Amino acid sequence: MSSSIPSIENTFTRQTGITVPVICGPMYPCSNPELVAAASEAGALGIVQPISLTYVHGYDFRNGLHYIRSLTANPIGMNALIEQSNKRYHERMVEWIDIALEEGVRFFITSLGKPDWVVKCVHQAGGIVYHDVTERKWAQKAVDAGVDGLIAVNNRAGGHAGGQSLLHLYDELQTYDLPIICAGGISLPVEFTQALDQGYAGVQMGTRFIATTECNAPEPYKQAIVNAKESDIVLSDRVSGTPVSLIHTPYIDRMGLKSNWLEKWMLSGKKRKYLMRTLYMLQSLWKLKKAVLDKSGSQEYWQAGKSVAGIDSIEPVSDIIEPFANARTPQ
Ligand SMILES: Cc1cc2nc3c(=O)[nH]c(=O)nc-3n(C[C@H](O)[C@H](O)[C@H](O)COP(=O)(O)O)c2cc1C
Repeated sequence: MSSSIPSIENTFTRQTGITVPVICGPMYPCSNPELVAAASEAGALGIVQPISLTYVHGYDFRNGLHYIRSLTANPIGMNALIEQSNKRYHERMVEWIDIALEEGVRFFITSLGKPDWVVKCVHQAGGIVYHDVTERKWAQKAVDAGVDGLIAVNNRAGGHAGGQSLLHLYDELQTYDLPIICAGGISLPVEFTQALDQGYAGVQMGTRFIATTECNAPEPYKQAIVNAKESDIVLSDRVSGTPVSLIHTPYIDRMGLKSNWLEKWMLSGKKRKYLMRTLYMLQSLWKLKKAVLDKSGSQEYWQAGKSVAGIDSIEPVSDIIEPFANARTPQ
């Protein structure tokens, strides 16, 4: 990284060895290896999304990590969705975490399940674990499991949106003596500075990094992010059974945002709910993959958060990160 860029040092940057407290958030299906590497190379932290790396972008997991390593020597992280109800998926995730540790990855973002087993093996290897949370109830469980930090996913986030505002969520979580990363609604350096002034240790951005030259998403998807207003972002239950942020397109109109009566009935019982969510998930993994690999952009099944409001061009990742590195805030 250029020595002319000043660093913003805090607990999070010291733990991770990065110079700019910005995470290029994990994104299924948009986290291609070139994007992850570009974020880390620019001084931020690129996060590998293993299902995106293997299932969408076609890499063997270890080979994909080697490829990223050939593009940057800077730290990278890995996202572990640790939902344990499917035995085969769980075994695969354990294997991915082991490989990542063998390959020198030392920062992990866990989502969904109880992260105690990840914390155990990552701490043994000298790494750290941050956990995605949308409210204090989940944060308490993660803190009890020994995580090193929290990713506070707010109600403006791309991907699975939380229910609380950036400010309210910080207030709920600040009593924990842990670094808290703001995830959701940030695309401009001024918003980053405000989040740091609020007390956040850094930000995690997703949507901003899709509209970049290094992201492999189709150009019409990137352009839709540039063109979208905040009011074009809608929430749908039909991706996974919980609200996911999408750009409002004719495709989304055809799909519908709300569950139909049969799906609602399925979601109302414990066993049926599990089945319905699995069906939603499998269908969405396939459709989202298809939409991101279709370079014509004809399948407008595109995720993005309300941070589209601050995005008005497709830029190289380093051009995005540099002003963040220069947006200094009192320590
Ligand atoms: C297209 C897309 C896919 C995402 N996929 C994941 C994922 O697989 N795992 C995860 O933990 N977060 C995922 N997220 C959330 C991001 O990592 C990040 O927290 C979020 O995008 C922050 O909000 P922003 O989009 O306003 O910057 C995704 C977000 C987007 C936009």
